[in-house]
Amino acid sequence: MTGPTPRPEVAAMHAYVPGEQPKDARLVKLNTNENNYPPSPKVLEALAALGERRIARYPDPVCGALRESIARTLAVGPSQVVVGNGSDEVLKMAAEAYVSPGERVGCLWPTYSLYPVFVQKAAATEVRFPWSLDGPTQEEALEAAPADLALAYLTTPNPPFGLPLDLDAVRRFALRRPQTLVVSDEAYIAYGGKSALELVREGLPNVLVTRSFSKSHSLAGMRVGFAVGSAEIVAVLNKVKDSYNLNATAQAAAQAAWEDQAYTDAVVARIVASRERTAVRLRGLGFQVPPSAGNFLFALREDAPALFPKFRDHNILVRWFDTPGLRNGLRVSIGTDDEMETFLRAAEALCSQ
Ligand SMILES: Cc1ncc(COP(=O)(O)O)c(C=O)c1O
Repeated sequence: MTGPTPRPEVAAMHAYVPGEQPKDARLVKLNTNENNYPPSPKVLEALAALGERRIARYPDPVCGALRESIARTLAVGPSQVVVGNGSDEVLKMAAEAYVSPGERVGCLWPTYSLYPVFVQKAAATEVRFPWSLDGPTQEEALEAAPADLALAYLTTPNPPFGLPLDLDAVRRFALRRPQTLVVSDEAYIAYGGKSALELVREGLPNVLVTRSFSKSHSLAGMRVGFAVGSAEIVAVLNKVKDSYNLNATAQAAAQAAWEDQAYTDAVVARIVASRERTAVRLRGLGFQVPPSAGNFLFALREDAPALFPKFRDHNILVRWFDTPGLRNGLRVSIGTDDEMETFLRAAEALCSQ
């Protein structure tokens, strides 16, 4: 007996492969660009104060208090903000709401490898704008991109290298394609780069900015992200949103973290300083390290595929992509200062062998 048949595009899909989440707490985890510092103490206070009624009842379906807090800080209206279960969810909602089967969705390549999954699910066609460190640049790739796109995911800073995108290039891209929803994925913007929020505030009707609480607010385990755009786009996204997409604990934690801006600023400054120190030391070991504006570095060396398992033998987890153009590099998240010292000592030992 054969079972039910999935939709053909789902049957043909390649599922996203997330970085490993190891059980072994001894591992120094530098593989999925989390923030390894603890969240603001205000987060734990907010969770402790949640109370049984907030847990027994459904959460606020529209994350009202959190949305208002975000909107106030970013000087936009609350109707311009939609909160998601991680920024992954708002990135997905954009494709669900704006891409029909057979339409084209663009992105720079290489970039975040989740976008192709959304494109395949929508039965759409993926259009890559290829760029590389040897050229064309990301901005040249945007200039050469086709016009007929239903949606484009532009990412700044763009993993795995962490290069930021020039805001004028994004503005030109969006102005030339009024029919395209231009999504500026800014999961790492706290660590560098210029936000396209300026374009939303300028009134560009086709720009949507997405942000994450996973990378700068130490809340990856809570799954919170949001999008900011015109009230019209946000109203459309709300139609495809699951009704109770963010649970009560995540809403409370995110609001407490968001409102403790001084704490986030201090942690981010520490990670940025560590990123710069780490890049200098890796270059001293013979790695090519492009300047990154994220909380990670991409370190290139011929023997990267061989080094990857050796770091693991030293209880250090970094990321290696078995992808053309990326095989000679290791993506290293910037952890705490102590973790980076452990990583660099291991790198020094391994590179002198
Ligand atoms: C470019 C980019 N966007 C979005 C995300 C997902 O963030 P979130 O945890 O908010 O879903 C990631 C996670 O690695 C990312 O690299």
